Amino acid sequence: MSFRKDFLWGGATAANQYEGGYLSGGKGLATLDAITGGSKDQPRMITFKTKDGEIKEVTREEALPVGAVGYVDPDKYYPSHVATDFYHHYEEDIALFAEMGFKCFRMSISWARICPKGTDEINEAGLAFYDAVFDELLKYGIEPVVTINHFDIPMYLADELDGWNNRKTVDYFIFFCETIFKRYKDKVKYWMTFNEINFLRSWTQIGIHQNDNQHRYQAIHHLFVASAKAVILGHEINPDFQIGMMVAYIPSYPMTSNPEDVMAALEFNRGQEFFIDVQVKGTYPAHKLKWFEREKIVIQKEADDDEILKKGTVDYIGFSYYMSTASSANPENVKYVGGNQQPAVKNPYLEESEWGWTVDPLGLRISLCKLYDRYQIPLFIVENGFGAVDVVKEDGSIDDDYRIDYFKKHIAAMKDAVTLDGVDLIGYTPWGCIDLVSAGTGEMKKRYGFIYVDLDDHGNGTLERSRKKSFYWYKDVIATNGENLD
Ligand code: BG6
Repeated sequence: MSFRKDFLWGGATAANQYEGGYLSGGKGLATLDAITGGSKDQPRMITFKTKDGEIKEVTREEALPVGAVGYVDPDKYYPSHVATDFYHHYEEDIALFAEMGFKCFRMSISWARICPKGTDEINEAGLAFYDAVFDELLKYGIEPVVTINHFDIPMYLADELDGWNNRKTVDYFIFFCETIFKRYKDKVKYWMTFNEINFLRSWTQIGIHQNDNQHRYQAIHHLFVASAKAVILGHEINPDFQIGMMVAYIPSYPMTSNPEDVMAALEFNRGQEFFIDVQVKGTYPAHKLKWFEREKIVIQKEADDDEILKKGTVDYIGFSYYMSTASSANPENVKYVGGNQQPAVKNPYLEESEWGWTVDPLGLRISLCKLYDRYQIPLFIVENGFGAVDVVKEDGSIDDDYRIDYFKKHIAAMKDAVTLDGVDLIGYTPWGCIDLVSAGTGEMKKRYGFIYVDLDDHGNGTLERSRKKSFYWYKDVIATNGENLD
């Protein structure tokens, strides 16, 4: 058998894209509640109020003015408010996951549902909601895999404290962790701290109002300290906890064998491996410290930060893998295509999805090898998948062979990494195992699921669930522990 007997087959979601119920059961506003939908050609916009009371909007890449606060405009549509409504459909959805044979289910806890302002005020109804979800999963023998924070922050912390730029946010986050660790210590074993930590740079994700490198890296230092403190605390509360980190891994190939292109690829890859180095090895890599020096970036640390980072290293590396990119020393030699949160370089050897993301199954094996060779701790692929437009036929069926084809090739690559390269891979949770809102574009049109949800880009639809062709295919993959991919 290729995959270990207890391999964690499942699927992945995130509260801000799936849960909905944005103000139900005492939940507070989160930054993501003030971001509109968009499309491939039209960016998502953050709506906010200036100090003078003016209502304005900016893209996520732009910084919000200092003192501006997130604002929910009653005339606009915000996809997170209902999302695909896990809040009211969790029993039905979990039954479908169980029917597919899921061994685990990755979801995130909405910080603003537990602590509406992000401070030390607790919302019991929020805790009770996740109790009900975990109980439902455990009823079917499905192991919850929990992302503590996926791409958002309570709006109050963002606007009153400047989010992760403020050291106090670390304390509030640890209070949130302590609350959920203690409450769910007998229900949840697998945790990961911050989703795609290498992509965190905007107001929506980390609540900062200035996103230049000085502010961004100070916020990131706070995230590292918070992650390490969470690991230490979690292990104290339950020594059986497995607490991982989560990075978006996009391997970059040199565009040519020109050593300058090789150096460019090395630098790109370092950009993301930096986040893994700190959380797995517990220290900042030398190249980053040199870069800070050159860029005049000064990180404010507290006396015991280095010790905390060293002590709070993670148990496993969780990562998303969708695509690869390429690097060239000469920008004139490259063309850009779409990509996960940032454009990627077109690779003439690879095809792209409708959203321009390269499709590179061998890149997954390459990533697994690189990560395992370098870090030697268990790996968990916590996101992978193919965003596509699905067509519902007259009889209600959906033949998503393109998705099956994508998964087949990626699982075959995983199998090679395990059987030929000896990688210690503990699980696989394809992204958006049930249709949900796209993080990048805010669309519903870009679907990833094995389960279809009837909802369009403007919030119209019955929210009814139905099984796609890939549902039956994945069920068979799980039943055979990945042996039968046809
Ligand atoms: C990752 C995120 O970036 O990729 C998810 O962790 C996201 O939140 C997923 O949904 C797919 O990206 P997108 O933009 O197609 O939703």
